[in-house]
Amino acid sequence: MAHIVGGIGTTHIPSIGNAVDRKLQQTPQWKSFFDGYVPVQEWLARKKPDIAIVIYNDHGADLFLDKMPTFAVGAAAEYPPADEGWGVRPVPTAEGDVDFSWHTIESLIDDEFDITICQELAVDHGFLVPMNLLWPGDWPVRVLPIAINVIQHPVPTPLRCYKLGQALRRAVDTFPTDARVVVVATGGLSHQLNGERAGFMSRSFDQMFLDAIEGDPMSLTRIPRQEYMDRAGAEAIEVIMWLAMRGAMNAKVRRVHRFYQMPVSLTGAGLVLFENETE
Ligand code: DHB
Ligand code: FE
Repeated sequence: MAHIVGGIGTTHIPSIGNAVDRKLQQTPQWKSFFDGYVPVQEWLARKKPDIAIVIYNDHGADLFLDKMPTFAVGAAAEYPPADEGWGVRPVPTAEGDVDFSWHTIESLIDDEFDITICQELAVDHGFLVPMNLLWPGDWPVRVLPIAINVIQHPVPTPLRCYKLGQALRRAVDTFPTDARVVVVATGGLSHQLNGERAGFMSRSFDQMFLDAIEGDPMSLTRIPRQEYMDRAGAEAIEVIMWLAMRGAMNAKVRRVHRFYQMPVSLTGAGLVLFENETE
């Protein structure tokens, strides 16, 4: 059967994509940030996952306020980059895995997750920037994008995201191949882009979150959605997507890497990599 080799949580700030496209990774402004990803790139080069489940949110590029699925699952052979208003970025087209997609969709629906099936899906910075950071250059994995609505309220509860991760775990564990799967969740950490508190960030919230996602994820499922926004900024509600990654992992995980820098653009930028600890 397929199995999960690790779980990753990472920020997806769009200006990182701009820095990649302009090859600014080694400039004084960016070097310390990009250096934070090298241990995870090396781990991926060693572990060589076949499939990446990428849990992200679309910021209005393909999924928009007119029709907003709570959970949307890719079922396409490929996922092109979306144009977010500055032209299509010079990035690869992500290759899908149609068999794994349909297996996961059937498994999730059997598990009573009434997801939206996307046979066409263009992906925005929520997906693309983490791909750039994890695999600089070409993308040697097939992907399963899963978009969670964290834009149009009411957004799902943190607990529901965690349970989605548990259901994804069951899907992986029953996929009848020896595929090696990495689960990636993107977004956050603290940030608010609009309104009176635009520019608000919270280092203390971010550190609490990075501790708890590793050692006590259930405590994060008990924080009300409004409290996430009050404590970490309105758009920081994105971090609930990391609970879907964590729900796909064992109760006990081993931290391989953790990195934090703030600010990157207007955001506290976080990265974690976990492996499963046997229970
Ligand atoms: C920024 C961060 C995000 O997560 C996002 O979706 C857009 C912008 C930022 O900090 O600029
Ligand atoms: Fe975002």
